[in-house]
Amino acid sequence: MKKPVVLVVMDGVGESSEALGNMVMQATTPTLDALKANDPFRTIKAHGTAVGLPSDDDMGNSEVGHNALGCGQVYSQGAKLVNESIEGGSIYASDTWKELVAGVKTSGGALHFIGLLSDGNVHSNIGHLLAMLKEAKAEGVSKARVHILLDGRDVPATSALEYVDQLENTIAELKDASFDVCIASGGGRMQITMDRYQANWSMVEKGWNIHVHGEGRAFASAKEAIETYRAEQPGVIDQDLPGFVIAENGTPVGAMKDGDSVILFNFRGDRALELSMAFDGDASFDKFDRGVMPKVLYAGMLEYDGDLHIPHKYLVNPPQIRHTLTELLVENGINEYACSETQKYGHVTYFWNGNRSEKFSEELETWQEVPSDVRSFDECPWMKGTEITDLVIEAIESGKYGFIRCNFPNGDMVGHTGNLYATEIAVETVDLCLTRIQKACDEHGCILVVTADHGNSDQMLEKNKKGVVSVRTAHSLRPVPFIIHDADERHEMDMESPFGLANVAPTVVELLGLKPYDCWEKSMLK
Ligand code: 3PG
Ligand code: CO
Repeated sequence: MKKPVVLVVMDGVGESSEALGNMVMQATTPTLDALKANDPFRTIKAHGTAVGLPSDDDMGNSEVGHNALGCGQVYSQGAKLVNESIEGGSIYASDTWKELVAGVKTSGGALHFIGLLSDGNVHSNIGHLLAMLKEAKAEGVSKARVHILLDGRDVPATSALEYVDQLENTIAELKDASFDVCIASGGGRMQITMDRYQANWSMVEKGWNIHVHGEGRAFASAKEAIETYRAEQPGVIDQDLPGFVIAENGTPVGAMKDGDSVILFNFRGDRALELSMAFDGDASFDKFDRGVMPKVLYAGMLEYDGDLHIPHKYLVNPPQIRHTLTELLVENGINEYACSETQKYGHVTYFWNGNRSEKFSEELETWQEVPSDVRSFDECPWMKGTEITDLVIEAIESGKYGFIRCNFPNGDMVGHTGNLYATEIAVETVDLCLTRIQKACDEHGCILVVTADHGNSDQMLEKNKKGVVSVRTAHSLRPVPFIIHDADERHEMDMESPFGLANVAPTVVELLGLKPYDCWEKSMLK
């Protein structure tokens, strides 16, 4: 190994010369500016086919971004694998689908679908839900219930009714004497069900009571629930809408019963794991009181955790990510250190290592989590930047590690709130942290590599076809910066080739003086 490499992932900090709503451009970032001006710097692709998504219309996200960063290759990702499985029909030929369908046909119970209702293609795709509803009817299922999580985070902030309408239209087409189907419950994705990395189990508990027990504020329809909450909380965005239950004559239409089957149709794992643990967990499950558990068959769209095998049943095989950077470093006996705060902790560990929650080597891998605040991050855009920086500097100073990586969530987590002012502070926070990390790298002979997993804070406003400007809470489709800073030496890059996130691991390995895996993409160094 030559010199240690310190890789900083500035989550959600894309690169663009477009000024509208570009808080990366607007923020005061002297360190980032100097790095870009004085060191080898280029942009790399972080969306679409470059990270294994179905098309270049798909924005990047942290799962596919960190997978690509951590494995040096482009794998077909969940969104694409599920599309193919539905198109080719293999999903319906799977043992899990057959078992769940047979279960409700025998019991006369309901087939429940829970998931994020949008076409964001980050956690889910409404198209997958609609296809499965049609197939369920075609296969003779007599009853289906849909539990909808409202997005507004991967799609426009107040677009929920468009997706509800799409779903209601399909329901109207399918519903007849043989097939009883309707929406049963729902709520904003940042209020119920879709917590991640065990940051706030009470979100999952709220969702559980709503979806499973039908306990929550009751409405006649999803549309009525959304419109009522919007009238009660002017300015509220979809992801923050409270939970609701659909009831008829005071009885919830979709409380789960023994003999029912349940499919979580999200394909991405981070925000699907906790609900899966609640459904699959035995009597020792202690994260919240689940009440009287109905005896249901539960399946996820994918296996979300390949180490812990969560959930037990799933419909589509996840990408089998092999030959990761961590495996290569472990083979070379190099100590590595990974750090972030809760919201992105799994991104630099679980996603980074190819959706594995366990280490390849207990001895060589050190993972450090800083607990995140449990609140809306536009109220504290600095998040845990200082604490993460302290830990990274400590790791640098220890001289123990050959490779250090960290993720600063600020540009992304604050960007998702749609608060421009707070997002500017978020980006400035990251710059301040970078200043300290760069100094430590220079003093201790480390190479600093700075990049991002996808854009977000670089595009906080967007203009529609009619020229109307609105706040954007979703990621951008823009490239991300890639900078190599070494106080002692310039590491020139190929500035022409169309590189993406999967070219980062090979570059890091070349900087470390190691031999990359043959199956990897190219290094960006000249
Ligand atoms: C989320 O889960 O918060 C968003 O859908 C995607 O954000 P991430 O990919 O940056 O985690
Ligand atoms: Co994000």
